[in-house]
Amino acid sequence: MELRRTHNCGELDSQDISKTVILSGWVDRRRDHGGLIFIDLRDRWGITQIRIEPVSKAYKDAKRLRSEFVVSFKGIVVERPEGMINKKLKTGEIEIVAEEIEILNESLTPPLHISGEVNSSEDLRLKYRYLDLRRPEMQKNFLIRHKLCQIVRQYFSENNFVEVETPFLMKSTPEGARDFLVPSRVWNGRFYALPQSPQTYKQLLMVAGFDRYFQIVKCFRDEDLRADRQPEFTQIDVEMSFIDVHDIIAVVENLMVRIFKNLLDIEIKSPFIKIPYSEAMSKYGSDKPDLRFDLQIFNISDLVVESDFKVFSDTVKSGNVVAGICARNCAGFSRKQIDDLIQWVKDRGAKGLAAIKVKGTDWEGSLNKFFTENIRKNIVRKMDAKDGDLLLFLADTTELVFSILGDLRIYLAKNLKLISENEYKLAWIVDFPLFEYNSEEKRYVARHHPFTSPKLADIDKILTEPEKVQARAYDLVLNGMEIAGGSIRISNTELQQKMFRALGIGDEEANDKFGFLLEALNYGAPPHGGIAFGLDRLVMILAKCISIREVIAFPKTASAMSLMDNAPSVVSQVQLDELGIKLKK
Ligand code: AMO
Repeated sequence: MELRRTHNCGELDSQDISKTVILSGWVDRRRDHGGLIFIDLRDRWGITQIRIEPVSKAYKDAKRLRSEFVVSFKGIVVERPEGMINKKLKTGEIEIVAEEIEILNESLTPPLHISGEVNSSEDLRLKYRYLDLRRPEMQKNFLIRHKLCQIVRQYFSENNFVEVETPFLMKSTPEGARDFLVPSRVWNGRFYALPQSPQTYKQLLMVAGFDRYFQIVKCFRDEDLRADRQPEFTQIDVEMSFIDVHDIIAVVENLMVRIFKNLLDIEIKSPFIKIPYSEAMSKYGSDKPDLRFDLQIFNISDLVVESDFKVFSDTVKSGNVVAGICARNCAGFSRKQIDDLIQWVKDRGAKGLAAIKVKGTDWEGSLNKFFTENIRKNIVRKMDAKDGDLLLFLADTTELVFSILGDLRIYLAKNLKLISENEYKLAWIVDFPLFEYNSEEKRYVARHHPFTSPKLADIDKILTEPEKVQARAYDLVLNGMEIAGGSIRISNTELQQKMFRALGIGDEEANDKFGFLLEALNYGAPPHGGIAFGLDRLVMILAKCISIREVIAFPKTASAMSLMDNAPSVVSQVQLDELGIKLKK
């Protein structure tokens, strides 16, 4: 048989009846029906059923077929007998009566199921990633990823952006996450770093007059991993000149509208809502709030400061806060359910959780007597609580209360099934503080990165009242995940130097690390700004996956290992010697 196939395994239907075809693919399933053999033949496009009759020349070899053998069949397309039609499959009305067979390759019994539900541990899937990726479900994710990249490239290209590649071997300038270092053989004792993002390069491209840049680019960060983080991940990186915040926002919103339309056939409404950072933190306890459900946080400190419930009043009097959420119609929670919630907040560092069931102006339970009717009324009004609702309160430091309540919102929403799978809630978070205090390093660090411009009205406060300075920065949040972040940049040397000083980076250190950028800003840098999307995260949401690893072909584990090839691995003494590296014992 000629090795050329005439069709793929996902395209033949009743219109092709009587055609002679050649199909090639993997054996998805083999069924022996007392004489007749049926093979489900699979490739990237689908599955076609092959029927091999005992009289067929192909019969003897077909008996040898096992799962994942690679095989070609030549045969005739026929209608399936009544009762055997599978309406769910595009090819479900036909089957191929095999005339010839060619086994192209055999396969060991695969350690994981390719067809049907995943039944293997993630470690096994990662070790045999090429088999895992053979699963139609995984291939679907990569098709979404591929289409997204096409849409992005086309969109930016239409809008006069130029895709420019920037180096992977760059100078190490850690700010934020740790750098991955690459030792130099030619320059023993010196190291390149893999870029955490092309931030400085894209700014230099603006100085160079490129005006509008984008790149789909790998970034590398040596940080603790979570379900939505990988040590190497991909950004859609964007930078523009002669613009302000609203220009970037418009470019991004139009892109998002197109992505949703083209990939999911969903019309999303632009402009997206904008939420100031401080409001996001106080209402949702997070700078990436999930807005698909309500469960807002209410600070009731001022209402309970004079109450007889000492846990609350003392907390407020000592400068801390009392805040809570109203779980609708949850007054029916059992003692056990409430105890579980209390344990859940304690596991996160809270001292306890006050749970109150609302019934008219009274509250069920022992806490009722500590609050006057007036206080109870005010709390119920503020939280818009109704009969049958469950109020959950924490009393502690601001930081702890809001971060735990932020997590509790999500935990409850998941448990109460308040999140609709097909809903997409986008929001911009704006008015970020420029700095945040790092108590370990005992200095202010840039919340975004050191090149982000302060709001012009706040420039004078950079060195004197850094905590009050707001940034010209914005994050795009989708369903509780930060999918993009960016800012207007500092475009003059003096302000950039001042910024470094505020970050506790001396002039010498600044020159040593970022001298090239400071110098470039002296040669006619246009006002500029940009944004970067986490491409993997976006695909993860569009493909409805719960882990970023489902949309990266060869990802690392949570402990940054590649289980397939065992990277990172030890290297030979010769390699180390060449690099001039001696390992500590
Ligand atoms: P930032 O650090 O916010 O900004 O990164 C931009 C976006 O990249 C994604 N992201 C990640 N995705 C997967 N794994 C990770 N470890 C990871 N870290 C970040 C997030 C995030 O929103 N240069 C700036 C952008 C700019 O100012 O233009 C930057 O890198 O979705």
